[in-house]
Parts: sequence; C-alpha cells; structure tokens
Amino acid sequence: MKLEPIVISAETHRGANAEYGRFLQGDILRLLPTLIEQYEGQVKLIYMDPPFQTGDKFTMRVRVGEEDWRRGRGSLTLPAFSDTLSREEYYDMMRQVLIGCKALLRDDGMLFLHVDYRTSARLRLLLDEVFGEENFLNEIIWAYQTGGRTRRYFSRKHDVIFFYRKTDRYDFNLEEVMVKPDAPKNNHMKRHVDPDGRVYRSMKVGGKVYTYYDDDPVAPSDVWNDLSHLQQRDPERTGYDTQKPLSLLIRIVRCGSRADELVFDPFCGSGTALAAAQYTGRRFLGVDQSPLVPNILRRRLMQFSYEMALQPSPNAPECDANLSAGVGFYEIQLNGVQFPEGSLPPSVSQWDAIDAWAAGYIVDGAFQCAAEARRSQRAPQLLNRLNVPVYSGQLALAIYDVMGGQHYYQIRPSEFNLS
Ligand SMILES: C[S@@+](CC[C@H](N)C(=O)[O-])C[C@H]1O[C@@H](n2cnc3c(N)ncnc32)[C@H](O)[C@@H]1O
Repeated sequence: MKLEPIVISAETHRGANAEYGRFLQGDILRLLPTLIEQYEGQVKLIYMDPPFQTGDKFTMRVRVGEEDWRRGRGSLTLPAFSDTLSREEYYDMMRQVLIGCKALLRDDGMLFLHVDYRTSARLRLLLDEVFGEENFLNEIIWAYQTGGRTRRYFSRKHDVIFFYRKTDRYDFNLEEVMVKPDAPKNNHMKRHVDPDGRVYRSMKVGGKVYTYYDDDPVAPSDVWNDLSHLQQRDPERTGYDTQKPLSLLIRIVRCGSRADELVFDPFCGSGTALAAAQYTGRRFLGVDQSPLVPNILRRRLMQFSYEMALQPSPNAPECDANLSAGVGFYEIQLNGVQFPEGSLPPSVSQWDAIDAWAAGYIVDGAFQCAAEARRSQRAPQLLNRLNVPVYSGQLALAIYDVMGGQHYYQIRPSEFNLS
C-alpha cells in the first residue's frame, strides 16, 4: 500500500531526549540566536574545526547499494561542503561564531579552535579580541606524518589548536589525559630500582630528595605528536573529508569537561567530537550544514541516544509498504520506493537509492526511531522487514536516501488487513 508522506523536522534515536545528545542541521549563523536562547551559559567545552580557507569544494564518495557495500567502496561522489567564502566573509562569520560561542560557555568553560597555517594568525587575533588575551592558554601543535611531502618547502605536518578559557575560574581536567612517559632520558639523576622492580630516579635539591618513577604517567605538553592522523584505510574513516581522529577529540573532551557536562561543536562534520563526547559520557550538541552529515551520524552514533533537528529534504519518493501484526509487535515490510523522475543519478536504481530506513512512532512531532535497517560491509543487503513493538501513537516509517535526504510517512494500521 502507498504510504502518506508527512512533514517531520526532528528524530530521536535510542529513546533519547534532547537533553543527552542533539544535532542540528543548518547554518551556524542562523542557528546561534536560538542556541543562545536555549543554552546560554550551559556549555562546558566547545571544540570547533571550521573550514580552513582552502578554497576547495569538498566531496564525499558514498556507498550505494549492495555492490558498493560488498566491495567496501563508494561509487557516487556527492558535494559535502564548500570552503569558498571570501576572506572577509569568512572572518566575519568566525567573529560572529566566536562571540556566540562565548555566550554559550559556562564561566568555568573552555574553547578549542582547530586551524592550520592558512588562518591561524588572524584567528588568534580574533580570539584575543573576543575572549581577551588574558584568557589564552595554549597554542597546541598537533603533529602527524600522514599525507604527501614536498621538496619546495618544509612539508606542512601540523595543525594548530588554540585553547582559551572563558574566565580564570575554568575547570581544566588534566588528570584525565595523562600519558605514558617517553623512554627515560639519559639524565643526570641517580637511577634506583624499588623492591617491586620499578625504576625511579632521584635528585637532591636544597637538602630535599625528589624521586620520579620512569613509568609514572606524565601530563602532555602543548606539542601533541603521539596522536596519529587517520590512515588511508583507517577503520575509523567515515568517508567525510577533513574528519579528525577520535583519539584527538577524546583528549580534548576529557581535559575540557567532566561526565554529563555539555560539549558543543558548531562545525561537527562527521561528528568526531560528538562521538568522543558520547564515548566519554558527556552530553553533546552539534551543528553542521552539510546534507551528508545526518546519514554519517546515524551510523556513527548508532549505540547512543540523541535527537536530530533536520532540514526538509527535496524529492520525497513514493513509498510502498505492508503492515502485519505479530504478538505485541508490528511487522513492516518495505516493498519499494519511487523517486521522482530525474531526481536520482542515472547510475542509481530506486532500491539502491535507500541508504537505510527505519520504523517508529511520531512522538511530540518527532520521529522516534524504534527499528532501523541499514547496510554494512558484513551485511550488504538491505533488510526489507522490520519489527516494531506496538505502542499507542502514530506509527511511521522513515526513508534515508543516499543523497542525504530523509523522508517520513505515516502508517495507519486501520487501513491494513491485520487479521
Ligand atoms: C573541517 S570540517 C569539520 C570536520 C569534523 N571536525 C570531523 O571530524 O569530521 C568543517 C565543517 O563545517 C561545516 N560548515 C561550514 N560552514 C558552516 C556553517 N556556516 N554552518 C554550519 N556548518 C558549517 C562543513 O559542512 C564541514 O562539515
């Protein structure tokens, strides 16, 4: 039976409420006033990794259908985001974002701004202007070895992460990011071995003896060369260009926040900061305007609770499904979809245009996902049946297309023969 499309602009996953994790799709400048209304003075940590003024248009290779999933490679290239603002537009946007972000921070909160050589000079000045020079804490050098090398100048193998506090009451959690010490230096301290076999060094200064164990954890300095960038075939890769490694974000999230506190990323891309927040038991708030981000987050945040506020998607397909009743559950069978003529790339068939689909209920105007079918490399075929428990409320189905669109339909059990 053909299902009736409905307009929905929010989704919840894993029974989430927006209190725990929240993603908003859209332009950060447009969303900031609402965010300030809702979250002023509540965010503990902001990490932001804005475009770097590369002048590039970034694309993503998306896996389409069983064949792509089986061979683990995407065959459809889609625009992800453009980094083509003029210098004036860019710095004007960044000024407004930084001012808004400062308003969102708690007094004990912090901001990490990730940049590279292209924008670091001007953004450092802008940060000083917005946060105050006295609130500058670090210029962190994140050094890595990946990527090609040039012989025309020294290869650029580091990014810069500026670290600012909102006030001098900031709550820096260094204990959570201690690291294993490097191999002990051949220093001039006396070497000892304690009864447990642990090596330590000692030094007498002013009549007092100081001891240091070789294996005592140490605090990282402002040069981070122990966290590698993603490799070409890194399992962590989502396919989103400019994705940062989870280990980097986990360090930032751990030192800048504590359990249950709110972490915000206004340019969240593939959601690395959101994943790091969830992994470490923090709440998150993320914004991005790319149409490809919601599908990535649905895969990446799969085990977690979160809400998404989404933009309407064009080209809703017709959706044909059947409903049958089990004991305490409905079985929904997706028979097929029909996207409007000309809305799919010629190489993509109707069924392959479905990246994933879900069934659930409409609760307070949001689609509450109860069951999802999505492809994976191990199970490249898309399931066409899902079971959802019988609750009261409006039963609904969602189609997520490979171009990043999400489309919703209501299912009226009374219209099916459920005997
Ligand atoms: C460098 S990427 C972030 C990558 C991310 N840190 C990750 O690990 O995947 C920058 C992101 O900013 C987003 N973006 C650019 N301008 C934006 C704007 N005005 N509002 C919201 N998002 C924006 C882009 O869509 C892109 O995903």
